[in-house]
Amino acid sequence: MAKTLSKLLSFTFLFMFNLFFFSITLAFAKSDGFSNILSPAKLGLQKEEKLSHLHFYFHDILSGRNPTAIPVASAAMTNQSQTGFGVVMMADDPLTVAPERNSKLVGKAQGIYASAAQDELALLMVMNFAFMEGKYNGSSLSLLGRNTVFSTVREMPIVGGSGLFRFARGYAQAKTHTIDFKSGDAVVEYNVYVFHY
Ligand SMILES: *[C@@H]1O[C@H](CO)[C@@H](O)[C@H](O)[C@H]1NC(C)=O
Ligand SMILES: *[C@@H]1O[C@H](CO)[C@@H](O)[C@H](O)[C@H]1NC(C)=O
Repeated sequence: MAKTLSKLLSFTFLFMFNLFFFSITLAFAKSDGFSNILSPAKLGLQKEEKLSHLHFYFHDILSGRNPTAIPVASAAMTNQSQTGFGVVMMADDPLTVAPERNSKLVGKAQGIYASAAQDELALLMVMNFAFMEGKYNGSSLSLLGRNTVFSTVREMPIVGGSGLFRFARGYAQAKTHTIDFKSGDAVVEYNVYVFHY
């Protein structure tokens, strides 16, 4: 009887021992030297996500001596395309609180827009909104979307952010405020909705 019990105990011990090493192996397998699993609290993410609304005006100036957007590439057929298909523009467009160019600057829209459709004017937008005002100074939001510039409201995804906008996701709605068809200069109203911590 005692012999059976000691056998059972030693078996149990062996089982526990193996289980212990198996867990250790698992724990080490999780940390493979370049990735590991963190608890969100470690990054200060225990708080609930906030939903922020940002409102500003985007100034895309093509004319004059100080354009804010310039063509950087095009194809041989771009000048024969009704939609300027293939033209790639680099922009560093001011973002202001009001439609007036001299109203308070809150940031810059820095990035590329390119004519990506042949049958209608639809731009591929790849832009970072680099904010410079108040608590958002130094933080940014990244936009990647399709901009059919002649639609009343265009919606484009916000795919991420930095600084106060880490883990951001949401969308931007762009609405043309004014456009000069001769020069191409435009002021666009943006409403941006983002979840972030
Ligand atoms: C388009 O550009 C090419 C050179 O890139 C030029 O040879 C051609 O004349 C231009 N066509 C038009 C319609 O302007
Ligand atoms: C934003 O931050 C930069 C760099 O830290 C600083 O030079 C600038 O004065 C700040 N702008 C505002 C409006 O606070």
